[in-house]
Parts: sequence; C-alpha cells; structure tokens
Amino acid sequence: MYKLEKITLAPFTWEQAQVYLGWVNQEETAHRLTRALPVSPLEHQRWYESLMQRQDAVVFSVLENAGGDYLGNIWLWGIHPVHRSAELRILLGPQAQGKGYGTEACRGLLRFAFQDLNLHKVFLYVLSHNTAAVRAFEKAGFVSEGILQDEFFVAGKYVDALRMASFAN
Ligand SMILES: CC(C)(COP(=O)(O)OP(=O)(O)OC[C@H]1O[C@@H](n2cnc3c(N)ncnc32)[C@H](O)[C@@H]1OP(=O)(O)O)[C@@H](O)C(=O)NCCC(=O)NCCS
Repeated sequence: MYKLEKITLAPFTWEQAQVYLGWVNQEETAHRLTRALPVSPLEHQRWYESLMQRQDAVVFSVLENAGGDYLGNIWLWGIHPVHRSAELRILLGPQAQGKGYGTEACRGLLRFAFQDLNLHKVFLYVLSHNTAAVRAFEKAGFVSEGILQDEFFVAGKYVDALRMASFAN
C-alpha cells in the first residue's frame, strides 16, 4: 500500500480487473489507449495472470481514500535493471477523470519508482491530442522528449504521439 493525500496505490485484484475490462472495451478509452480490437474475457484473464507473474512490471490499483472506491490503475512496465528505466501507463475510469487523481497517482508512482525502486528515468507515450493526459503528466513532472509523427492508427487516421519523461533528482 502506498498512501497519498487523496488516493492510495494498492495491489490490483481480480475483482477490480473485471471493472477494468469494461473500461478498456469502451470506444473512447480504447482510442486513447490505441487499442483497435476489443478484449475478450479469456484474453483479459490471460493478461491478468501474466501480469501477476511478471518480474519487470509493478501494477497498482488507484483507490480513493475517502470511500475506498476503485478508480483505475497505474503501472510501471518493462523495468530495466541496467538502464534503470521503466514505462508508465495509466487508466482511470470515466467517473474518476478530471478530478486531479491522475496527477496525484503519477506523482506517487514517480516517487515510488525513484525512491523505492532506485530507477533513473520513467517515460511514457501519449497521443498528442489527449490534452488532459498531457497536462496531467506535465503537472506530475514529465517533460516532452519529442513528437513521434503518425505513430498510431486510431479511429481511421494516423495520429502523433508525444514521448515524455521524468528523471530522478
Ligand atoms: C489521462 C488521465 C490519467 C489523467 O488523469 P486525470 O485525473 O483525469 O487528470 P487531472 O484531473 O489530474 O488533470 C487533468 C488536467 O488537464 C486539464 N484538462 C482537462 N481537459 C482538458 C482539455 N480538453 N484541454 C486542456 N486541458 C484539459 C484539467 O483542467 C487538468 O489541469 P488543471 O489541474 O491545470 O486544471 C485520465 O484522464 C485517464 O486515465 N484517461 C483515460 C486513459 C488515458 O488517456 N490514459 C493516458 C494514456 S497515455
């Protein structure tokens, strides 16, 4: 458990994964995550099981401190022992967006990555037009490393992505 001001980062349970599956299969969320295909329950179960066994990933659920509600997930992916880097990924449910939780979760995960895992760099990829996400990442301390032109094909057209990063002090 990693308690912050408004939220807590906690282990990701199978019950929460059922809610998560509903979110990723919503069209707008799928587009933001650059997913073209719907996720089946079996595919989702295999993903969850493999996630729990991975040594190079740390997955947290985001819980609201006030009522304990499950708000979404944030995780470090591809943790590299030599480069001491990892990719950040995040998904909050539609009801939890735009309330500052994403910014706080990113700040908390960065602290965890730098202080507890001794990482040097955390990076992410975000669609350039996902303005709220870019703003939340900037507030959490990420800076742009560059634009990847036509990186993804989403909803019938090519879109640019930003690569952003944050570094340990
Ligand atoms: C991206 C995400 C993690 C951001 O978390 P969040 O809790 O919604 O974001 P926050 O409330 O902390 O911050 C959003 C900021 O963007 C601003 N914002 C929201 N919509 C905006 C828009 N259309 N244009 C400009 N700024 C916008 C908000 O005002 C806020 O900034 P402020 O505090 O300076 O006013 C969350 O919305 C999410 O999970 N979205 C769906 C999945 C996704 O896009 N993941 C990212 C893939 S890399």
